[in-house]
Amino acid sequence: DNGFNVTNSSRDIVEVAKSNNKDYIVFYGSQTGTAEDYANKFAKELKAKFKLNVIVADLEDYDFENLNELNIPVSFFISTYGEGDYPDSATGFESHLETLESGDLENFKYTIFGLGNTTYEFYNAAAEKTVKALEQANATLYGEFGKGDDGAGTLDEDYLSWKESTLELLKTKLSLNEFDSEFEPSLILNRLSKSEIDNEKIFLGEPDRSYLNSSVDLSLGPFDHAHPYLAPISSSKELFNSKDRSCIHLEFDLSQTNLRYSTGDHVAVWPSNSDEKLHSFLKITNLYNDKDQIIDLKPLDSTVTIPFPTPSTVETIFRHYKEISGPVSRQILSTLKQFAPTPKAKSKAERLSKDKVAFAEEIHSEKYDLAEVLSLLSDGETWNISLEFLIESISNLQPRYYSISSSSLSDKTNIHITAVVESESFKDRKITGVTTNLLKNIQLAQNKSSTEPELHYDLVGPRNKFGPLPYKLPIHVRRSTFRLPSNSSIPVILIGPGTGVAPFRGFIRDRFKLAEQGDADKFGKMLLFYGSRSSTEDFLYEDEWKEYSKALGSSFELITAFSRETKEKIYVQHKVKERKEEILELINKGAFIYVCGDAARMAKDVNNTLVDILAEGKNISKDEAHEILRTFKTLNKYQEDVW
Ligand code: 2AM
Repeated sequence: DNGFNVTNSSRDIVEVAKSNNKDYIVFYGSQTGTAEDYANKFAKELKAKFKLNVIVADLEDYDFENLNELNIPVSFFISTYGEGDYPDSATGFESHLETLESGDLENFKYTIFGLGNTTYEFYNAAAEKTVKALEQANATLYGEFGKGDDGAGTLDEDYLSWKESTLELLKTKLSLNEFDSEFEPSLILNRLSKSEIDNEKIFLGEPDRSYLNSSVDLSLGPFDHAHPYLAPISSSKELFNSKDRSCIHLEFDLSQTNLRYSTGDHVAVWPSNSDEKLHSFLKITNLYNDKDQIIDLKPLDSTVTIPFPTPSTVETIFRHYKEISGPVSRQILSTLKQFAPTPKAKSKAERLSKDKVAFAEEIHSEKYDLAEVLSLLSDGETWNISLEFLIESISNLQPRYYSISSSSLSDKTNIHITAVVESESFKDRKITGVTTNLLKNIQLAQNKSSTEPELHYDLVGPRNKFGPLPYKLPIHVRRSTFRLPSNSSIPVILIGPGTGVAPFRGFIRDRFKLAEQGDADKFGKMLLFYGSRSSTEDFLYEDEWKEYSKALGSSFELITAFSRETKEKIYVQHKVKERKEEILELINKGAFIYVCGDAARMAKDVNNTLVDILAEGKNISKDEAHEILRTFKTLNKYQEDVW
């Protein structure tokens, strides 16, 4: 649970469903919040369309021994993560599935939608595994096994078409009556006046409820998705030498907490929205003059969780807890139309909600956020949308994950990240990343730069009230399996262009630290392939590599590929190819291969290059070479940290 007003603590799903008179369960297993979002959307529709009483539940929160006694249907939303893995929160569920035997679930009825990404090797593997196990236990799958592909960018449409057929099918199978879809809140919203509440008890951007409990020591963990650490930023700097591109190196200080990490882990950074995005959202939704209104939320029943700490204010909710600048789903338009300020806006919303092609062309490919869509539909006229609807229908802000670029050996109480600031000119607008622009704003403010950031954030707001500057951001660490071999004499091949070099900087700093103890001559070869546009503009950590070389001697070699210094582009995989004899020799010696960075193109191209090298060098077919690399992956000898 996420710690916000969860009143129910039983792990017995059958009992919880029964005692709350539930007639449907939507389970999710989510790593970054997307599967959870879709689970919530689906549950909302079941409620609106069929007036079902639905529980939405995290797989983490329940046990599964008595699933066969459930006499209500279940829908699963399960995402696949990394090398075909279940989300961390669903590993208990995964273990339970492994214990199932034929006949165990013969009364159990379910639907399933898997969230995956075809740019990764094991597409939708967690959902696949789920279906297989349930099938073997004789559970009944209603309708088709839905699969969404985030890699092809079709996740939302994949979901919508699965959902349409699944709802139709459920209607028949469960003999449900269909009602006019209307939004049914699961939260009870109260507007409080200032006199009704002690100012000190209002949440103004704190990451979780423990921040108002003075008996909780906030520097002690465990830190996770529900309880991040508000980490001071000890320093930050610009790494690029460019007037229009930016890459921020930022260091979180862990010296005042017991939060720790290992080299190769990811750090989750919790963003807030910029003043600019917040204001355009509050203006078009006519909430600007109400922004200080205090809001309290109560769950409709004990199975509902409040998504963020309350009481809070309208401004805080949309600045710190809601994803207001993400892409808009076609789905939301069909409910939004009931709030349209003009008949024209209503019919536009109606048309776009039904017409997949028009929506793709006019909204999705234009990369509009919600405020822009609302304004487009109403020609700038403000909307009066129920706050309950906005709070329940807009996704919660989720943390962004970065590969840690420091080493837990040499930087035990510091986490470094390396992030390119996302700002893309698109037609007459700029498309900007929420978190990376926040990092940039912090870097400029912290270094008292006279450069104006593109977006401005509330840097010294309530999140910082627990002490003066430096600036702080909520973080937590996500363990990864991206690790150097424990035996340091094993050679490693590291391929990481752009910010893909981040975890490798950590790896090398590990070895650098060990070298201080005089172990350098025992190290296996460490070949690092790094690529950027040019040696003068975006060569990350240029000065550091020399220092590492000095300490590590011949065990470390940096090989660079600068893509925009020559007529023909030179990429890391070209350099890998140039070194094919050496690569082959290292692989024969048992080298581990690591690839980090762009998943869609770079990691694929690198993989193909390795296939070529193996096929040619070992005189085998490409299929056989591919199979060798696949085996390496399952042995963790070939690892990818790609996005
Ligand atoms: P480019 O932008 O000049 O095409 C870091 O982003 C580096 O990775 C840049 O030099 C970029 O080159 C390069 N890059 C782009 N596509 C790539 C690919 N498919 N494989 C390897 N490197 C690539």
